[in-house]
Amino acid sequence: MKASALRPLALGVVALAVTVLLFSRAQAGDDDYYPPITDPLTLQECASCHIGFPPSMLPAASWQRMMGGLESHFGDDASLDTDTAAAITRYLVGHAGDAPGQANKLLRGLRPGDAPLRITELPKWVREHDEVPAAEWSRKDVGSKANCTACHIDAEKGYFEDD
Ligand code: HEC
Ligand code: HEC
Repeated sequence: MKASALRPLALGVVALAVTVLLFSRAQAGDDDYYPPITDPLTLQECASCHIGFPPSMLPAASWQRMMGGLESHFGDDASLDTDTAAAITRYLVGHAGDAPGQANKLLRGLRPGDAPLRITELPKWVREHDEVPAAEWSRKDVGSKANCTACHIDAEKGYFEDD
């Protein structure tokens, strides 16, 4: 008798807790979430040497420039056949930070026409990491600023919260 009278209340508390959790995740997601690559071809070719960087982290002009110079890609040869490169370029450009309907949170401070090749050199990226102590960057498991997953464990799922 007593237990059954309590159950609805307990369930209500659990439901409330879950709602609060989901809500705060969604709120964090607004700022920290960058939709990851979903195109299988792009994932296959652009997420083997490093994580698949979210297309919305660079403007279309950057992806076009990068895809036009894959034979010397940051010291590596990442060249692809013409059709593959064209298909990946279409995907990246269509999901770039300045494409219609995309969030361009990291592009603030860029001038129209700027086509940086590194996310880690965007003014907004640099600002977001201003307060990361030097000791963090020189950690052995970090190695490079581009090694996002060392600090953002869910980077491959598109979450770049401070964790
Ligand atoms: C053969 C290995 C290789 C492949 C394949 C490759 N990359 Fe890279 N990429 C690199 C290396 C090496 C760097 C420099 C990483 C560093 O500075 O730590 C890099 C850096 C980058 C960066 C800049 C990261 C920063 O510093 O902000 C982007 C963006 C990028 N790659 C996109 C791509 C895309 C798009 C593709 C697919 C067309 C691709 N990469 C395929 C090796 C590769
Ligand atoms: C050495 C650890 C480290 C590495 C490597 C790193 N970050 Fe970060 N990043 C942080 C920290 C810490 C913060 C939070 C800074 C703050 O809040 O003051 C942050 C913040 C961010 C934010 C802002 C999130 C928000 O709250 O809006 C983004 C976006 C981001 N990082 C993307 C990246 C990307 C993309 C890469 C890889 C190209 C990367 N980070 C590599 C440590 C790192």
